[in-house]
Amino acid sequence: MNANDSTTSLGCIEATCKARYAIGERIYACSRCGGLLDVQYDFKLAANTADLKVMFRNRRASDATADLSGVWRFRELLPFVNDLSKAVTLAEGNTPIYEAPQSAAYAGLDQLRFKHQGMNPTGSFKDNGMTTGITQAVALGAQAVACASTGNTSASMAAYAARAGMRAFVFIPADQIAYGKLSQSLEYGARVVEIEGNFDDAMRLVRELADETDIYLLNSINPFRLEGQKAIIIAMMEQCGWRAPDWIALPGGNLGNTSAFGKALHEMKTLGFIDRMPRLAVIQAEGAAPFYELFVSPDKSALRPVAHPSTLATAIRIGNPVSWTKALRALAWTDGVVERVTEQEIADAKAIIGRDGIGCEPASASTLAGVRRLVASGVVDSSANVIAVLTGNLLKDPSYTISYHTEKLALEEDGARDPISGRFANRPIRAGASKEEIKRTLKL
Ligand code: F0G
Repeated sequence: MNANDSTTSLGCIEATCKARYAIGERIYACSRCGGLLDVQYDFKLAANTADLKVMFRNRRASDATADLSGVWRFRELLPFVNDLSKAVTLAEGNTPIYEAPQSAAYAGLDQLRFKHQGMNPTGSFKDNGMTTGITQAVALGAQAVACASTGNTSASMAAYAARAGMRAFVFIPADQIAYGKLSQSLEYGARVVEIEGNFDDAMRLVRELADETDIYLLNSINPFRLEGQKAIIIAMMEQCGWRAPDWIALPGGNLGNTSAFGKALHEMKTLGFIDRMPRLAVIQAEGAAPFYELFVSPDKSALRPVAHPSTLATAIRIGNPVSWTKALRALAWTDGVVERVTEQEIADAKAIIGRDGIGCEPASASTLAGVRRLVASGVVDSSANVIAVLTGNLLKDPSYTISYHTEKLALEEDGARDPISGRFANRPIRAGASKEEIKRTLKL
């Protein structure tokens, strides 16, 4: 695709290094200094921003494969692919934004909206980045791909690898991922390895394996993944009539999404697609909050990993996030903040999101809990225009939801049990198979 005639390279983000590499190189970090890499463009847009906005929108009426994707529809803003006919897509993206009045009231806001990434083909935001990641894997001639995962990356990678006819190796922490996610990786035919360790152990191992074998790494350290995840924000701005909200809230785990959102906003502002920056609010679970600790620390030179991260929001049970330097940059670009929330707050917020008829997985609900805290502390004004990103579908983790509503949810670590109360629990009712008994029980 030559829509932009852009010069594209991989660039080290470290200001003291800035080394550049060809996009055809199979590297995941700067070979000179170890820094993270960006896909960098010398954007030469084929049309002005007003015309491009019309073009993006008109593609929604097209049945061409690339136009049906809510990622490739914005291809001029991620122009690293030469031949779009080779894009591996499942018609991802184009997810809805919902008004959520119950959640708004709960957070203390006049109005709150959710962009629901759980409506993607494999039920999480990862599909936005997997279409670009696997497409790059194809361009590089990779035969096999791999990732470490808390469940969603692996589900998505397994699906897209299957579409591309590639082998997929998935490394997950044993017994620590939600069943919905595990079932997807198995069904899509990936080779699933349950590591006796946590996500950070799996991440370290898969990086070493990618250096020593010819598997192509598809964790969010891979900059081509993040190019696709930019589309979450581009689509959101389009849905807002290109008027940025005051705040965008999202959960923070490995911090790939935070990094992608920052890059998207920075590029869109620089290119003139938006005229003001929204602020990012990154929310972490209390037991896995190294980025929150970094945010409140005066010394931002090094992130201190959490050795034993713990949260029932298993998607974000991560102690050593690989993309923290890019995430710090995203905070700097957007005047962003980081908040942390308790297990109880996540559980209650999730039930409230359900009451709006929306629903999400636990990690996603941290956004509502975090926004509620930020409103209470005066960081977010009650009249602010806030969009929270729900990263995964309710059906990813049914055991969590059932445990909450039957008041059996508890964080169990090292023999200790920390119960979570079902403040908004909705217990099922047992009744005999008799019409009279049902009428009595339900007071009909
Ligand atoms: N929400 C959900 C549902 C996730 O699955 C993840 C990450 C996050 C939030 C955090 O996003 O890592 O970009 O900061 N899941 C990864 C995985 C780690 O392997 O599925 P992040």
